Amino acid sequence: MAALKHLYESRIPFFCRAWFEGYTSRIHSQDKEIESNIRLKLAHTYRVCENIAIIARSLRMNEGDLALAQAIALLHDVGRFEQLCGFGSFDDRVTLDHAQLGLRVINRSGVLCSLPWIERNLIRRSIWNHNKYSIPDTEKAEVNDFIQCYLEKRCLCDCLWR
Ligand SMILES: [Fe+2]
Repeated sequence: MAALKHLYESRIPFFCRAWFEGYTSRIHSQDKEIESNIRLKLAHTYRVCENIAIIARSLRMNEGDLALAQAIALLHDVGRFEQLCGFGSFDDRVTLDHAQLGLRVINRSGVLCSLPWIERNLIRRSIWNHNKYSIPDTEKAEVNDFIQCYLEKRCLCDCLWR
C-alpha cells in the first residue's frame, strides 16, 4: 500500500488524507475474507486516486481542481468499509447503498466542515452519484460544462505549445 500512497500524497488536502488514513486504520475484521476485502477496497481507493491524477494531468487541470478531484477519489468508497464490517458483503443489493453509507460516515465525522459550501456540496454529490446507474439530467449539464471547459483549455494549450 505504501507504494501507492506516495503517488497522491502531495495533492490531496491534508485533513482529508489524515482523516481517511485514521478512519481506515481502525477498520479491521477477525474474518479473513472480510479483512481481505477491506484491503482490496483500500487498494482500489489508492488506485482511483492515482488514476484521477493521470486524468487530471491529461486535462491540464489546475491545482485546486486536482486537489478536489483527489479528495473525491479518496472519499468515494468510504461507505465500503462500514458496509463490509456491518454486513460482511459489498453487494449493495443485499446490504445498503454504499454511497449513502459513505456520506453518513463523512457527515458524522465532520471531515468536510472546513471546506467552502460549494466544494463540500460537490464532493458529496460526486460520492452520491458515483455508484448510480445513470447521472441525473440536472447533474449532467454541470458535468458536461466542467469537462468542456478543460477540453477547451487543453486544445488551447496544445495550440500554444506547438
Ligand atoms: Fe463505490
